[in-house]
Amino acid sequence: MTKILMVCLGNICRSPLAEGILQSKLPEDSFIIDSAGTSNYHIGEKPDKRSIAIARHYGIDIGNQRGRQFTSLDFERFDHIYAMDNSNYRNILALARNDKDKTKVKLILNESLPNENLDVPDPYYGGDSGFDNVFKMLDDACQIIANRLNN
Ligand code: 4NP
Repeated sequence: MTKILMVCLGNICRSPLAEGILQSKLPEDSFIIDSAGTSNYHIGEKPDKRSIAIARHYGIDIGNQRGRQFTSLDFERFDHIYAMDNSNYRNILALARNDKDKTKVKLILNESLPNENLDVPDPYYGGDSGFDNVFKMLDDACQIIANRLNN
């Protein structure tokens, strides 16, 4: 089993989409994909309605996900940890216990746009179009991740 964790701030907008998109591209008998938030704001909640709607629009059901907070134990549970933005990236690294933990953490958009260190924009305070934009960015990045890991 290869285990991959997607991380954003709230675990209700971006990382639930990344989880659902990557799951849709990889066989479930060989990959475990999960998501978490660096904050405790939305523990136990469903994804944002707008994330559920855009995922459904593209044929992916993320309605059964529930928010949880990232902890340092996630460095033991997962092989690859993808941060949605630079703030999440710093907050994850601050919980790393050693260099091995740190090597697991990457910015997700560096998969599709290498070395640019770009953020997946936080769509929480914007309109619905922000969610479509985020979906497409994550779909590109997840396609590259899936192609590399599933060979
Ligand atoms: P996410 O978006 O990190 O993509 O889940 C956010 C969701 C909620 C909040 C911020 C960002 N919030 O401040 O409650």
